[in-house]
Amino acid sequence: MASSLRLNSTLKLNDGLSIPRLGLGVYLTQSADAIKHALQFGYRHIDTAQWYENEEVVGEGFKASGMKREDVWITTKIWDTNHGYNQTTKTLDESLKKAGLDFFDLVLIHSPNPGKEKRLETYRALIDAKKQGKIKSAGVSNYGVHHIKELLAQFPNDPPSINQIEISPFFQRKDIVTECRKHNIALQAYSPLGKGAFVDRPELHKIGEKYKKSPAQVLIRWSLQQDFIVLPKSSNEERIKANADLYDFELSKQDIDTLNAMETGKGVTWDPTKAP
Ligand SMILES: NC(=O)c1ccc[n+]([C@@H]2O[C@H](COP(=O)([O-])OP(=O)(O)OC[C@H]3O[C@@H](n4cnc5c(N)ncnc54)[C@H](OP(=O)(O)O)[C@@H]3O)[C@@H](O)[C@H]2O)c1
Repeated sequence: MASSLRLNSTLKLNDGLSIPRLGLGVYLTQSADAIKHALQFGYRHIDTAQWYENEEVVGEGFKASGMKREDVWITTKIWDTNHGYNQTTKTLDESLKKAGLDFFDLVLIHSPNPGKEKRLETYRALIDAKKQGKIKSAGVSNYGVHHIKELLAQFPNDPPSINQIEISPFFQRKDIVTECRKHNIALQAYSPLGKGAFVDRPELHKIGEKYKKSPAQVLIRWSLQQDFIVLPKSSNEERIKANADLYDFELSKQDIDTLNAMETGKGVTWDPTKAP
């Protein structure tokens, strides 16, 4: 229930793990302090990737926070040029070393772009890494409906726990969301603020005024009330804090309907979900 959401709320995944509902996006973040502050404010989930070249920074920030490893969820993603069984296994070890960690909570295939054979081999490497304890959960990102079907056909006993895709009221991805929900695959919403492009929208200000909340808080709260795991990015201490101040209000059904009617069918970033 939306009204019972807390900063430490989690979602149960199809592999039995519980993932914190709010994660800190760190694309373009090169500050270990930002990671440390987020954890001190109460974030318990950090979303990095090989592509972001900041796995070291995330590891540094985590260590500086003094948190216990089991209390923080850390995700990374296998980049397109690291697909294939051997290369995935090798670069996953490198990512662990860079972050100074013994395991990742979640590893995602960053995109399906490298093609069918490569992405299936990459997923096989993730399943084996899970058996070896290097990762707790295996998932995908930017997978369209046909990629999900392909993966489930090949790995019926090891479905991905998560599909991380761009989602906001302006780009709701209903076809992918429906397919994932059919198979109990959780959705992570990335670029929830439209990479910053949505934070001054007057229609969001208007909704936010009722609750004394900013457009960014309205957008992140919308995602939580859709049962998504949401990943706002900020490397600014004030905005990191504000983006987690979401638990003293609930968007009404009417406001959710207004937000749902803002669909444009267009995203703000890359879209590999249509890749062959
Ligand atoms: N799997 C994928 O392919 C993929 C693709 C894109 C993103 N992601 C993940 O999702 C995360 C979030 O997406 P994103 O980084 O694309 O964009 P986003 O979270 O939609 O927006 C981030 C931008 O908004 C600004 N911002 C943050 N909070 C704000 C606030 N309260 N008021 C005003 N401006 C604010 C940030 O600047 P400041 O830092 O200066 O606050 C930054 O410029 C990424 O960091 C990454 O972890 C994954």
